[in-house]
Amino acid sequence: MGEDSEKLASSGGPKPLWGGRFTEKPHPLFLQFTQSVSYDRRLYRQEITVWRAYAQMLESVGLLTGEERAEIFQGLDEIEREIEQGSFPWSLEREDLHMNLEAELTRKTKAASKLHAGRSRNDLVATTTRLWVKETIGSVLSRIRGLQKSLVGLGMRYKDLLLPGYTHLQRAQPVLLAHHLLAYVEMLERDARRLQDCLMGTDVLPLGSGALAGSTLPLDRKLLARLLGFREIARNSMDAVSDRDYVVEFCSACVLLGVHLSRLAEDLILWSSAEFGFLRLPEGFTSGSSLMPQKRNPDVLELVRGKSGRLLGNLVALVTMLKGLPMTYNRDMQEDKERLFDTADTVLGSLQVLALMLDGAEIDRNQCERAASDPSLLATDLVEWLVVIHGVPFRHAHGMIGKLVALAEQRGISLADLPVEVGKEACPFWGPPMRELLESKKSLFRRQTVGAPHPKSVEAELTRWQKRLGRAERPSQKSDEG
Ligand code: ARG
Repeated sequence: MGEDSEKLASSGGPKPLWGGRFTEKPHPLFLQFTQSVSYDRRLYRQEITVWRAYAQMLESVGLLTGEERAEIFQGLDEIEREIEQGSFPWSLEREDLHMNLEAELTRKTKAASKLHAGRSRNDLVATTTRLWVKETIGSVLSRIRGLQKSLVGLGMRYKDLLLPGYTHLQRAQPVLLAHHLLAYVEMLERDARRLQDCLMGTDVLPLGSGALAGSTLPLDRKLLARLLGFREIARNSMDAVSDRDYVVEFCSACVLLGVHLSRLAEDLILWSSAEFGFLRLPEGFTSGSSLMPQKRNPDVLELVRGKSGRLLGNLVALVTMLKGLPMTYNRDMQEDKERLFDTADTVLGSLQVLALMLDGAEIDRNQCERAASDPSLLATDLVEWLVVIHGVPFRHAHGMIGKLVALAEQRGISLADLPVEVGKEACPFWGPPMRELLESKKSLFRRQTVGAPHPKSVEAELTRWQKRLGRAERPSQKSDEG
């Protein structure tokens, strides 16, 4: 809408619908600075739904005749069609989505002038935005399920594959690749739960609260709630028009989701580097270098990681915008939309692209197994063996095995090759039974604690998730066209 705003700056607009008491037309720069239609028009579908419900309610309380209601419905149908076909005459001079619709509906039908009875853009925008957030939560949840499925799918494809687990980015203990991937499935599950909580908080109807103090008209808010599918009705008209907690909660849940996606992206970036060499990303999702012909860069993953920053930026902008506002509605609140839309677009895009990348990823089995078979990853297993078989106190056992590792390191040999006589200097129990422990695959079968990567438990977890995700309902994804 850049061109439009230039036009606007030089034109000066018509008298606005709220212009009854004004003698002068708004300054073109006022219109340019305050307009929100360039972005809030994205809410048109939810807004029209709200308008239909409002007309129906007005009819039911006798403030519109059946004919007038039908006229309004017809006008709204036409408007919806025009918007979808791209022929709707959006105008920045009309400030926002609400005024654009009202002006057009008024042009189409006389009954339109009755529709705003008892209603304010304050309760309207809050209602429409809540509807949008509710739908968008559905879309995000469905993409979270999609990414969880991709993670489980990759885990299933390489069910028995070992990988070193890391702490401090230093090899620590062997795990299964699937176990590592399932850790992300758990994180995403918490994100889904937070979004479901947020859905509960969003599912409250503000409409019927007027500008801030309800109405002298006999508005039927219960009917509105039923028609629009809200679970609850806001109980305080002042809170109803000034509450943006649901936007903050959604954006906040998305910050953490973004952090999880960023961490996943970082793991995948590391794994796809030559230094790790665990993973080959699908070519269609990598880019070359303009200078270095050999390069294949994980740009998508880097952007997923990078975009997590703007999610936090959006949250901070929102909370800061709200912090000092007096009751009730203030125009500052219009600033919520772009942050909200940007957050939704960012998480939806990141979730989608990550799922597709994982579906096309190839794991280098040899490289993973080679790395996971490093015997020093089993030093902790040796300590625990001394504790459980020989009754050595843990801290003493830790010291013995530490020395054993040092002896192998000094000689530049693998722990598994440390001669018995040499090893006995550090640990009197050093010998074949202990050496036999130094096999990563077998070590996993000794890991019996709940939540540990025992191959049987990991397989059970994969199957459990597969069943669960198979069952997960997939809410519609059409909320964010605009
Ligand atoms: N565009 C406005 C927003 O998004 C709509 C509400 C405006 N209300 C008003 N009284 N100016 O917040």
